[in-house]
Amino acid sequence: MLVEVNDLTRTYMMGSTEVNALRGVSFAVERGEFVAIMGPSGSGKSTLMHLLGCLDQPTSGTYLLDGTPVEALSDQELSHLRNHKVGFVFQAFNLISQLTILENVEVPLIYMGTDRARRHSLCLDMLKDVGLAHRARHRPNELSGGENQRVAIARALVTNPDIILADEPTGNLDTKTGHEIMEILQKLNDENGTTIVLVTHEIAKAKWTRRLIHMQDGKILRELKGDEISPLVDLFQEAPAA
Ligand SMILES: Nc1ncnc2c1ncn2[C@@H]1O[C@H](COP(=O)(O)OP(=O)(O)OP(=O)(O)O)[C@@H](O)[C@H]1O
Ligand SMILES: [Mg+2]
Repeated sequence: MLVEVNDLTRTYMMGSTEVNALRGVSFAVERGEFVAIMGPSGSGKSTLMHLLGCLDQPTSGTYLLDGTPVEALSDQELSHLRNHKVGFVFQAFNLISQLTILENVEVPLIYMGTDRARRHSLCLDMLKDVGLAHRARHRPNELSGGENQRVAIARALVTNPDIILADEPTGNLDTKTGHEIMEILQKLNDENGTTIVLVTHEIAKAKWTRRLIHMQDGKILRELKGDEISPLVDLFQEAPAA
C-alpha cells in the first residue's frame, strides 16, 4: 500500500472553539490507483489532502506513506519525505510570479539539491510533456489559466513523485481547459502508473476515476468503485434538467 490511514482526526482550535475537520477517516490507496474524493464544502477534503501530503500532522490516528509512519518523523524527515514522494497540484496554481515558467518548475529540484544542468534538462522535458516548452522563458502572468495549471502539473511531476495530490485542479478553469487538465492526469495514471488522489466538486470529474470516496462532516460517508461510478455521475448530471 502506498497510503494507509487509520482513524485520522484533525481538530483545529479557533480561539476556544474546536473545529473537528476530520473525525476518524480510514482508507488505503494502492500504487497506481486514481482516486476521487468528493463531498460538500467544509467536509474535510483539503484537510485530508494536507495530511496525506505531510503538510500538516493529524490530531490522532496513524498514517503510513509507503510504509513509513509519518507521525514518528521529525520536521526535517517529513519535508524530505514530502519532497521525494509527493507532488501537489492546487486550485490556485501557487506559481511564483517573479520567476519564469522554467524556474518555477525547477523549484522542487532545487530543494532536492539537483544540479543546474540536470535541472534544466529535466524541467524542459517536463514542460514539453505538458505542451509548454515554447513558453519556458515566459512568466506566469503571460500565460492563460490552463497553461499555468499545466506548469503547476509539470512542477508537481518533475521530482517523479509516487503520488500526485490534486485539490480541485480544474476549479479555476473553464470546462474545455479543465478537460485538458483531466486528460493529462489520466494519461499520467494510465501510462506512467502514477498514483493520483483528486479532490473535486464536480461529479462529472468522477467519471475519470475508478474509485470515488464520498466525504461528509469529516468522515467517509461511502465509497464507490468501478462500474458503480458512471450511473451515479449520469444521475447527478441529469438532475438539473429534470
Ligand atoms: N486552518 C484552519 N483553522 C481552523 N479551521 C479550519 C482550518 N482549515 C479548515 N478549517 C475548518 O475545517 C473544516 C474542513 O475544512 P476543509 O478545508 O478541509 O474543507 P473542504 O472539504 O476542503 O471544503 P471546500 O470544498 O470548501 O474546499 C471546515 O469547517 C473549515 O472551516
Ligand atoms: Mg478544500
